[in-house]
Amino acid sequence: CGIVGYIGKAQAAPILIKGLSKLEYRGYDSAGIAVFGDQVQVVKAKGRLAELDEKVKNMGGVKGCMGIGHTRWATHGAPSDKNAHPHTSMNGRISVVHNGIIENYIQLKSELEKQGYVFVSETDTEVIAQLFDSLYNGDLVDTLIRVIGKVRGSYALGIVCSEKPDEFVAVRKDSPLLVGISEDGNYIASDIPAVLEYTKDYYLLNDNEIVVMKKDGVTILDLDKNEIKKDIYHVDWDISAAEKGGYDYFMMKEIMEQPKALKATISPRLDNGQIVLDQLKYTDEDIKNINRIHIVACGSAWHAGIVGKYVIEDLARIPVEVDLASEFRYRNPILNKNDVCIIISQSGETADTLAALREAKRQGIRILSIVNVVGSSIARDSDDVLYTWAGPEIAVATTKGYSTQVALMYLIALKFGQVRGCVSAEEAAKLVAELESVPEKIEQLFALDGKMKELAEGHANAKDVFIIGRGIDYAVALECSLKLKEISYIHSEAYAAGELKHGTISLIEEGTLVVAIATQDTLYEKLVSNVKEVKARGANVLAIAKEGNTEIAEVADEVIYIPAIDDRFTASLDVIPMQLFAYYVAVARGCDVDKPRNLAKSVTVE
Ligand code: G6P
Repeated sequence: CGIVGYIGKAQAAPILIKGLSKLEYRGYDSAGIAVFGDQVQVVKAKGRLAELDEKVKNMGGVKGCMGIGHTRWATHGAPSDKNAHPHTSMNGRISVVHNGIIENYIQLKSELEKQGYVFVSETDTEVIAQLFDSLYNGDLVDTLIRVIGKVRGSYALGIVCSEKPDEFVAVRKDSPLLVGISEDGNYIASDIPAVLEYTKDYYLLNDNEIVVMKKDGVTILDLDKNEIKKDIYHVDWDISAAEKGGYDYFMMKEIMEQPKALKATISPRLDNGQIVLDQLKYTDEDIKNINRIHIVACGSAWHAGIVGKYVIEDLARIPVEVDLASEFRYRNPILNKNDVCIIISQSGETADTLAALREAKRQGIRILSIVNVVGSSIARDSDDVLYTWAGPEIAVATTKGYSTQVALMYLIALKFGQVRGCVSAEEAAKLVAELESVPEKIEQLFALDGKMKELAEGHANAKDVFIIGRGIDYAVALECSLKLKEISYIHSEAYAAGELKHGTISLIEEGTLVVAIATQDTLYEKLVSNVKEVKARGANVLAIAKEGNTEIAEVADEVIYIPAIDDRFTASLDVIPMQLFAYYVAVARGCDVDKPRNLAKSVTVE
């Protein structure tokens, strides 16, 4: 979910709605605002933000210079007007927007019901409004501290009270929230794009820091009401970076930005052909002593981690385990003193990933995170951070985020490999040159745009798509498959090509599309055999191969060629035509590419 809040000289409603439009990637099944004019007016609507905007316009606007807003990704209770935020206490006094989950809401709800509070929604958030009301003593900060003392779970909250026209309060715990400040007014938001049009200056909040928002200033307090002095952060990118810039969808813009994002991620870490990861506080001795690496992440970041496993084990000879954060956090993982945990996250806010980080930290091992959003919770909680300089990523389906994560896997593998004496200086120089060639080779791959569109349109009605590969090609198949299913809703599975015969091949029928990624020179012949196996069962095969490896054209129905590159770096190239393919399939099927159903970009709840 995304939240915003504003207090200042201007009308709040347009600022809130505009802010929410920049946060829609965080959830978009319903939205709402509460604005304080003569009184607090709450407007909510199921569906996309446009519905809310329309409703507000039909009402002739909502007047007032203070307000809070929310765009929802449903957890407790289906998307509906009733379950949309802000939630209001029974007497209308308190209005709340919330991102996170209140774990003990059932117990709190029954206590409040005994006091006579009547609930109208199925959400966990409504208890905050009622609880706040029941504890209210005329002081917002005092009351908020008492509320925090009673709730368990994660939250970013914005709270408006109908008896306080000149202030509202906010707080966070395990859900992101920042405070934007300017001459004309002050803001709260889940993420920077929501306020970027009005200010580039902001404070980051730590858990349980309370913000008192007033027109002419912001006060941040700890739970004992001591004022906390904070550093002001300054955003160094422009609003245009978070806009579509002529493309139909953010996803296409972000696909096209990959060469630039990769250069920005790789170049500063190279000096005369040497890899310099000076953001890492690791001595050579530290690197030599690493016993095992645990890579932990969700979604595409997890896929980047699987590429990482292949290259780090290959080049640095360090055993690597890759875990889904939602599994790692609860499986009581075995972590030893000289192990390192690499956390990968574009947003730096994914709830499961953050919890996994804390589990690793609790067990005392060193955390290196790979994050895109500067100053995000994961970045702040880690011992070391390597940023992927991809710039803001808005489309729910990641492209440049993933690619830059993979690039950092390569840099880490090469650096660790060299320090540990597994990669000679000569080989390292060769591999670094290959890595540097990736952005340009991606540019070349963009020439396939028309071809991928044509292929996508031809396969837009596919029922199932299987994507197979071996080694790193398998790791990238996982990502290609996710891209396709998340935005086009076509069922897709990635399979290790050699494993297909142990079950999944039974699903291949006449005409089933199989994408065969065959870009590992050492495994090429094996893949050609796998293609023959699926062809024999009637599959329609689209192969991806390296330029020059033309034999596969004799067995596959279509072949897409990627420029020649060392086997280890193929993941960076293979994914490009498949991103385009997924994009065009989704467009052909009339899907909302940037906002696929049921998904959110930044999943800040468990
Ligand atoms: C969501 C997004 C995915 C992303 C995953 C992890 O599910 O839709 O695209 O890979 O979260 O996000 P993170 O911000 O931690 O990389």
